[in-house]
Amino acid sequence: MRTSTQPLSSWLALLCALFSLFSLGVAVKENDFKKCHQSGFCKRNRDYADKAVTQGSSWQAPYTIVPSDASFNDGLFHATILKTIDDKGATVELPLTVSFHKSGTARVTVDEKRRQEKDIELRHGSQARKERYNEAEKWAIVGGTTVDVDAKVSHSGEAGIKIQYGPNSAFEANIKYNPYSIEFKRDGSTQLKLNDRGLMNLEHWRPKVDKPAAEEKKEGEENTEENKEESSVEPAGEDESTWWDESFGGNTDSKPRGPESVALDITFFGYEHVYGIPEHAGPLSLKETRGGEGAYSEPYRLYNSDVFEYILDSPMTLYGAIPLMQAHKKDSTVAVFWLNAAETWIDITKSKESLNPLHLGKAKTNTQTHWISESGLMDLFVFLGPTPGDISKAFGELTGTTAMPQEFSIGYHQCRWNYVSDDDVKEVDRKMDRHQIPYDVIWLDIEYTEEKKYFTWDKDMFRDPISMGQQLDAHGRKLVVIVDPHIKNTGSYPVIDELKANGLAVKNKEGKDFEGWCWPGSSMWVDCFNPSAIKWWKSLFQYDRFKGTMENTWLWNDMNEPSVFNGPEVTMPKDNLHYGSWEHRDVHNINGLTFHNATYEALLSRKKGELRRPFALTRSFYAGSQRVGAMWTGDNQANWEHLGASIPMILNQGVSGFPFAGADVGGFFGNPEAELQSRWYQAGAFYPFFRGHAHIDARRREPYLLPEPYREIVTSALRLRYSLIPSWYTAFHEAHQNGSPIIRPMYWTHPNNEGSFGIDNQFFVGSTGILVKPVLEKGKTTEDVYIPDDEVYYNYFSYQKMPTAKGKTLTIEAPIESIPVLMQGGHIFPRRDIPRRSVQLMRFDDYTLVVAVGKDGKAVGQLYADDGDSFDYQNGEYIHRTFRLEGSKIISTDDDGREKSAKQGDWLKNMQEVAIDKIIIVGAPSSWANKKEVQLETEGTQSTVKLEYFEGDTNRGAFAVIGRVGARIGADWTIDLA
Ligand code: NOJ
Repeated sequence: MRTSTQPLSSWLALLCALFSLFSLGVAVKENDFKKCHQSGFCKRNRDYADKAVTQGSSWQAPYTIVPSDASFNDGLFHATILKTIDDKGATVELPLTVSFHKSGTARVTVDEKRRQEKDIELRHGSQARKERYNEAEKWAIVGGTTVDVDAKVSHSGEAGIKIQYGPNSAFEANIKYNPYSIEFKRDGSTQLKLNDRGLMNLEHWRPKVDKPAAEEKKEGEENTEENKEESSVEPAGEDESTWWDESFGGNTDSKPRGPESVALDITFFGYEHVYGIPEHAGPLSLKETRGGEGAYSEPYRLYNSDVFEYILDSPMTLYGAIPLMQAHKKDSTVAVFWLNAAETWIDITKSKESLNPLHLGKAKTNTQTHWISESGLMDLFVFLGPTPGDISKAFGELTGTTAMPQEFSIGYHQCRWNYVSDDDVKEVDRKMDRHQIPYDVIWLDIEYTEEKKYFTWDKDMFRDPISMGQQLDAHGRKLVVIVDPHIKNTGSYPVIDELKANGLAVKNKEGKDFEGWCWPGSSMWVDCFNPSAIKWWKSLFQYDRFKGTMENTWLWNDMNEPSVFNGPEVTMPKDNLHYGSWEHRDVHNINGLTFHNATYEALLSRKKGELRRPFALTRSFYAGSQRVGAMWTGDNQANWEHLGASIPMILNQGVSGFPFAGADVGGFFGNPEAELQSRWYQAGAFYPFFRGHAHIDARRREPYLLPEPYREIVTSALRLRYSLIPSWYTAFHEAHQNGSPIIRPMYWTHPNNEGSFGIDNQFFVGSTGILVKPVLEKGKTTEDVYIPDDEVYYNYFSYQKMPTAKGKTLTIEAPIESIPVLMQGGHIFPRRDIPRRSVQLMRFDDYTLVVAVGKDGKAVGQLYADDGDSFDYQNGEYIHRTFRLEGSKIISTDDDGREKSAKQGDWLKNMQEVAIDKIIIVGAPSSWANKKEVQLETEGTQSTVKLEYFEGDTNRGAFAVIGRVGARIGADWTIDLA
């Protein structure tokens, strides 16, 4: 008995130990990052909010404007907000500017006079700047701030001022003086209000004064030795335990300026849904954060971090930050952009307005938000919509739109940590070809370098990088190599020598080069806030300097939050110093953007006379990063939950202005089973950025390694992506033009359909009408697709017409080999149907047009094409067509009034030969059944083209094929079906 039970108990003990280790592991990772109560300024502001709520109507917000001091001229309102800081009525002055822009946005900026005048003392002999950080706009804002001199005062008095602005003066800002608040209206109805609940809090500068040691320590204090000697002169009752030096996880932040947070509450009236503020792994429609059923108990956090193995359905911070929040209700969308680069927390609560008993209908929900940043200006932009498209456009105008991509970069990317040698790369390339699996880019992770020294190659494993690049180039393929911002601190490495000699590294609080730990061991970080650092960074990428790279080598920027393994919360100490003596605290969330930007600039200038669109992927980002490249969602896991989480995360990127986004297909950590991997490729085929990636410990999983039928399934998903490249590229162009998302959530496309607002697992691709609901669960063979309107919908593959189902779901068969994809009637979209190995090889292939006939018998769609590589499109070197099915005609016209005299370069000349091959008309009326030919008129000639009509049956919907059309893609043409 004894002998038989012993092994079992030890086995159980081992299991328990493993279990606790595992749970400890996960918990420890989460605990590596602060909760609000561990972040002094967040706790203080939440406590402040609680106090206001407890006091209810007796709460007196201490911020007022002196009317005599306020002025409005030429679109700018200036005043001073006085903050009362004690019962004796002492105040501090906070200069306020409200600017009204031609673009229809309004900007509200609050500064601190004493800091503007540098009239403060820094503790610990710090060399940091004395002002509040006022350069976030330098990195984030590119336009849309021309002041609207037509903005006018509609009322002004002792209590406040009302200013009308925006299109047809339909917007109004109602600035109240005591207490200070601003209400924004559109067409007379209130949309949102700043300081509605009186939670505004700008922690002004104050000196820290020593007090007898006995009086110091407050409850919950985690202070340094030094701090125990001091205390402050603030009014009694104030808890100053987190004002000064603050510690977390064994690191102490010296906070030379003491407490300096900025916080503001913003209420969205009548808005039940808020979206945005990426990056978080949670639903698109943001949750409440103050506890209760279905709510988080922590605020959403924005503090770019290397969150290894992130948890799902969480407000925890991730790698990037875009502090743009949109509020949405039927018929209206408004938004706020909080321009602050410091650590930020956002609380969200929703309150139902009590129903007036005489008022029929639904109780109105208001969404209340509370924005809390550690330092910097209080600086925000207000957008009054009224549509989600208006917000995307205005935000694009402000922070820039997504760059026109290298066309190859919307193909498939094959990555892993790591392809171990140049031979390995060549072999993967050959195998992809052998199995006829299309791909465009193969990636090299950190192991290609010599000892993680960027700009070098491991000499044993990568003996001949040029021949590797040449093999790829033979089929139009590319290589992406990783270059991170940490530079190995070692001897005989010219890059570190130059970094140090030129003073281009981020500095520690003493002003010496900051040294920390990352992949290479001891490292220093290039400070890309410094223009000289950008200049130097550019020099490193010249082909003759970064030997082994060539025209088809592109870049991957990782770890740019920045990730510092031995730093507080795996990043830099906040009291580190950047160019201009700004503390890291002030600029943290922009740091990743500056590095990505430097790489973009470097790629633009690799060789004199070579001007090509850069491709650079980033992990960390801020508003504006969309101008310089693509992003991915970091280190996810090979499980179904992470596959599911990827869709709302990517949708959120799209509505937040950074739509060139994807997630590691297959999952970074772990080994996906074949079903998961296949479903992930099916979903990934609809990510704007489509890359398979795996951790160094994960088994090899290139698509050709999959057993059948999975290999075929994945290959089909890839082919589907490749055939639709013209439509994807057109969607990218639209995003580039007007800031629109590339994959679009239902609320964005159907802002008036309330059933759409909470949906975040299906989406439309650009303006194609292609509606996708990827299968995200194991073993699932059907999907319920929500239908937001009364248009007709067809199955993408079978052309079957679906029953009308506005506001309901349709169940679509989705066995493992198929993806639930529908086509919304009324659209025409372009494809290229000849299977090829890479996007570049498809460049001059003929097109297929797919027409999904709308319920009114009409359809419309677009094609945008250019050389996919240079900036010649800016000089008219492109083709932009609109296709229309109207009555009995299909017509192709030039889309815009561009100069016809645009100089024809090589690309346009080659496109002369490119034609429409066939037109597939899905939902073709049965009256065409006997039609055999149609008339084509183009470039002054008439011809007859064959039409074949296919009747629908139980497996297939009715359709017609016109082919071979032969009209040139760049020419006007008309097909008469009469
Ligand atoms: C972390 C990145 O998120 C991951 O994609 C990469 O493989 C590793 N760093 C190694 O570079």
